[in-house]
Amino acid sequence: MKNLIIAIDGTAGSGKSTTARLVARRLQYLHIDTGAMYRAVALAVLQNNINPDDKDAVEKLVERLKLRLRQNNGIEVLLNDEHVTDLIRRSDVTSIVSTISSYEGVRAKMVEEQRAMGKNGSVVLEGRDIGTVVFPDADIKLFFIADVEERARRRCRELLDKGERVDFETILSDIKSRDYFDSTRAISPLKKAHDAITIDTSNISIDEQVEKVLSIVAKRQNVKSSVKE
Ligand code: DC
Repeated sequence: MKNLIIAIDGTAGSGKSTTARLVARRLQYLHIDTGAMYRAVALAVLQNNINPDDKDAVEKLVERLKLRLRQNNGIEVLLNDEHVTDLIRRSDVTSIVSTISSYEGVRAKMVEEQRAMGKNGSVVLEGRDIGTVVFPDADIKLFFIADVEERARRRCRELLDKGERVDFETILSDIKSRDYFDSTRAISPLKKAHDAITIDTSNISIDEQVEKVLSIVAKRQNVKSSVKE
């Protein structure tokens, strides 16, 4: 199972991050959570007291950020050498990340870094524009979807597990507005690549999602090796 580029796109809460992480672990591939990169930029905006609506200031900031993803039993996110893995999940980060990730200068820098990290293959990249923009020639393209109420329930469970207080209706409306913003923005909107396989995770477990992806990978691998023979 070597050298494939696996692109997983989908909405927030569709299960793509967990599945990408587990699939990468099973294949001993690198897992690149591109949402975490946009979140790290959003965190830097807050830490530097920059107005998230000030596109020029945000784009200037991103030029001087040093961002690293380190694999260490899951992904660790380092921002200018500071460990920010947990901080990027804060709700004030979540509430501005869609705005930050809609800026051209931010996307250009992130896409460049994602291509550099993934170009040698043996990677699972997950995000919103991997199969359409970052790696349009990826070996496998998947598009994860799930019912919005189920996604909100999953998000509530995640936050409850972390000991945070949750309000289902607020989370549901946050997810709906992020979906809307991410899929209607001008640059690289969330969109299914024409050749991506859709996986609806509304009624299947994480284990089933992982098995489904691995069976697609195995089929693709067989096709690849029979073409070589
Ligand atoms: O996957 P996530 O919820 O952690 O992503 C956070 C935000 O980053 C999401 O609202 C949209 C944006 N994003 C993006 O624009 N492009 C990507 N490839 C990944 C995430």
